[in-house]
Amino acid sequence: MTDDPISNFEVTDCDLMGRRGILKVKGRKVETPELMPVINPNKLGSGGSIEPKELKDRFRFNMIITNSYIIRRTEDMKERAISEGLHRLLSFDGVIMTDSGTFQSFMYGGGKGEVDVDPLDIIRFQNSIGSDVGTILDRFTVPGSEHEDAENDLNITMKRAKDSLDVNKNMEMAVPVQGGRHLDLRELSGRRVKELGISYAPIGGVVPIMESYDYTLLVDVIANAKKGLGPAIPAHLFGAGHPMILPLATAMGCDLFDSASYIKFANDDRYMTSDRTYHLKELDTFPCPCPVCSKYDPMDLLSMPKGERTPLLARHNLWVLRIVLDSVRSAISEGTLWELVERSAMSNPQMYAAVRRVKEHGSLIEEQAPRSTRRFMCSSSLSLSRPEFIRYERYLSNADLSSDRTLRLTDWARNYSRSVMDLMGNPPEGVDPFIDSPLGPIPYELNDMYPLGQAIFPPPGGLDEGMLGHMEAMRKKVPMKDIIDWNGKKQPEELPGRIGHRQANIRRAMALIRCQFSNDVTDPVVALFGEDDDLEERIDMITSRKTGKIRNIHLAKDGGKLHLLSLRAEDGLFSIKIEGAKRLHKNIPAPWMRVIVDSETGEFNARGLNVFCKFINDADGRIRPGDDVLVVDEKDKLLAVGKAQTGWKYLKESKSGIGVKVREGVLSGKDKD
Ligand code: GUN
Ligand code: ZN
Repeated sequence: MTDDPISNFEVTDCDLMGRRGILKVKGRKVETPELMPVINPNKLGSGGSIEPKELKDRFRFNMIITNSYIIRRTEDMKERAISEGLHRLLSFDGVIMTDSGTFQSFMYGGGKGEVDVDPLDIIRFQNSIGSDVGTILDRFTVPGSEHEDAENDLNITMKRAKDSLDVNKNMEMAVPVQGGRHLDLRELSGRRVKELGISYAPIGGVVPIMESYDYTLLVDVIANAKKGLGPAIPAHLFGAGHPMILPLATAMGCDLFDSASYIKFANDDRYMTSDRTYHLKELDTFPCPCPVCSKYDPMDLLSMPKGERTPLLARHNLWVLRIVLDSVRSAISEGTLWELVERSAMSNPQMYAAVRRVKEHGSLIEEQAPRSTRRFMCSSSLSLSRPEFIRYERYLSNADLSSDRTLRLTDWARNYSRSVMDLMGNPPEGVDPFIDSPLGPIPYELNDMYPLGQAIFPPPGGLDEGMLGHMEAMRKKVPMKDIIDWNGKKQPEELPGRIGHRQANIRRAMALIRCQFSNDVTDPVVALFGEDDDLEERIDMITSRKTGKIRNIHLAKDGGKLHLLSLRAEDGLFSIKIEGAKRLHKNIPAPWMRVIVDSETGEFNARGLNVFCKFINDADGRIRPGDDVLVVDEKDKLLAVGKAQTGWKYLKESKSGIGVKVREGVLSGKDKD
């Protein structure tokens, strides 16, 4: 890798394994997730095609893909490409990726055939026409390949990749992950691609998997490829262009897609929607507000000559792709990507099976998913794959909760926006209130914490069998005695009086601190406040005048007070202030929530500047996107506290972009919040 990379990728938002990011190639920017329309160089300017310039100016596709093998095979085009360069040839000033001819070997030789091109010549050719992202001549491994053949293909691909990197000049190099249906090889292939130091990785060999609607295998293939690749390299799902697959593939960590389907489907009079395709003859009105569908109805198109109809249909198909990608992007930012994925499960039975399959990769996803998002809506047991369910189950298994006298709040749904918790108010003396929620029993103290307090479930009686089964299994993890059930309606008579408001908030604060800062070594409450007998007097809480809820937590000390934590209203999680960070750092040993940076640049962070990924040497495996972290140097000296932009693995492996947004440095003396 040179000092000045040809491309770099920076993640700005995460949800599940999906992310929004910026891919910069030779100074040109592409927002991800993004789809590259496939340009057939033979069809350019032929009237029936859509020109690359329109793709960018009208449809906002800033990256396209075309085929260098086809350009090279056509003598006059080849000459023009060399003399003018690809960007002029295609009249496109966005990012241009070129493929190598591998796909032609699959189309015309079932993967076994080789095209008449030398693997290094095609790299030199892609260089000579000024491609931004070139592709090596990988071996297309079909899903039917036996393990031995697939492994052999992989070795050839890797050898070609190394040789190609040696001859390559000034072009980002795409080295596809292959391995066929063999998941061990998919992971190995991903790892070997990462070890080459590659900055762009397509997942290849998936077209026949998608053509046979085996989306379940597709989920396994993506998951294993990503396991090998790690999160830092942008991943491109080669040949995936049906809108239906985009939310799921993004959620599994794919950033880029390419599609010829918009034009191929149009050629066959097929009309895309976000979840299926129609033949034009099946429609009597268009269920779409795009410029094409606003102007014409299906009869208008059917009565046109094909040469006029096809580009109009292709434009509609492009609008659908644009809209779906835009909604995937906003779902990532909002934290509702799962809701989108779950909706796509209803497209057809194969997609449903694929979304169910995600559960098998739950822990891989959990490792990269933020701990807090803005919404949490759960309709069916498909949701049991979500990281939140996995985490809460883990919490219940480890927290050792039990109760001798229990108030069980049985109606978790909101009654006119008042939850049963609000109706209860402060808890009764000597009784532990638990909400009997579909996530499992929730101690009242944790109810404002994401996702527990934010979760929206069907009302009791509306849960499916899978969800009921989960709920029952979670109940078993919390032994409760002497249970009084209350549904929030009539007050139960046999309850003792309520504890005071401060007492209730102290209980809440301690439980939240123990949950958010849990570790294997130290009680986080002791870490923050010390072990004095008068601990409760040392906890100084500022509560909201309007809601009575905790806002800030101070430590009363020597007549003054130190601000340790702030509780965020939106997700009920703490932000750590520098005084809190100092105590957590001193009393909870490394590596807990540490991000270790280069000692040389640490000074900047101590003064309050953000941490760049390239200066990060290590990060604790517990760090998830959005978590508050302790920024330390190689000797574990505390420098700053801030918010991780991505998960731990990305922080460790990425070389570009901001890794931690610093809130306060030990020397900054100012508070950026
Ligand atoms: N286009 C669709 N799939 C593939 C693949 O596996 N490799 C390459 N190079 N191009 C593709
Ligand atoms: Zn339309």
